[in-house]
Amino acid sequence: MNTGFLKGHVVEIAIRRARLPDVGALVALTKPFGAEGIMIPLSIGDTLERIRSFLVACLPDGTIAGCVAVDATWDLLVEIRSLAVEKARHGAGIGRMLMEAALADAREFGAKEAFTLTYVPDFFSRFGFETVNRDTLPHKVWLVCVKCPKFPDCGEVAMKLRFEEAEARPGVPHS
Ligand SMILES: CC(C)(COP(=O)(O)OP(=O)(O)OC[C@H]1O[C@@H](n2cnc3c(N)ncnc32)[C@H](O)[C@@H]1OP(=O)(O)O)[C@@H](O)C(=O)NCCC(=O)NCCS
Repeated sequence: MNTGFLKGHVVEIAIRRARLPDVGALVALTKPFGAEGIMIPLSIGDTLERIRSFLVACLPDGTIAGCVAVDATWDLLVEIRSLAVEKARHGAGIGRMLMEAALADAREFGAKEAFTLTYVPDFFSRFGFETVNRDTLPHKVWLVCVKCPKFPDCGEVAMKLRFEEAEARPGVPHS
C-alpha cells in the first residue's frame, strides 16, 4: 500500500492489476486526455483486449485514480503505455507509484528494456528513460502508429529504458 497527499490529506493508494469490471473506469479516465490530444484514449474493445496488461491505482473507496499498461512488444522489450492519472489528482505522487509498479512488473515479466512514446519526456526521464530515434523501435510499433489520426507527425518522443544500465546509474529508482 502506498500513500498519496490528496486535497491536504494523506490517503492510502493501492496499486493492483486491472480486472474486467475496471474497463469502463479506464475508458472514462483517459477520455479527457484523448480530447486534449495528449494521449490515445482507450476504447472499450482495445481495453478489453489489453486488460491483463494494466495496473490501476485505487483509492480507499475503490475509485480508480490512475492506470498504466505494460505491453509485451518484441523479444525482451515491453512498451509502457496508457499512463494516466485523473486530472484532479495530479501532483499527488500517483504517477510515480504507477511507474514504479509498472517497471517492477516489466522486470518480473522478464523484460530487459522498456520503451514509451510520449508527450511528457521529462516525466519519463525521472525513471531513467532516454530519448532514442524512433527508427530503433521494432517495426511492430508502427502497426499501431499508422492507425493513429496524427500519423506521421504526432510529435511524440520515443524513449527507452535499459534496466541493467539504469541500475548502474545513480539516482534512478529501481526495485
Ligand atoms: C504524466 C502524469 C501521469 C503524471 O502523474 P502525476 O500523478 O501528476 O505525477 P506524480 O505526482 O507522481 O509526479 C512524480 C514526479 O514527476 C513530476 N512530474 C509530474 N508531471 C510531470 C510532467 N508532465 N513533466 C515532468 N515532470 C512531471 C512531478 O513533479 C514529480 O516530481 P518529484 O518526484 O520530484 O516530486 C499525469 O500528469 C497525467 O496523467 N497526464 C496526462 C496523461 C499523459 O500525458 N500521460 C502520459 C502519456 S505517455
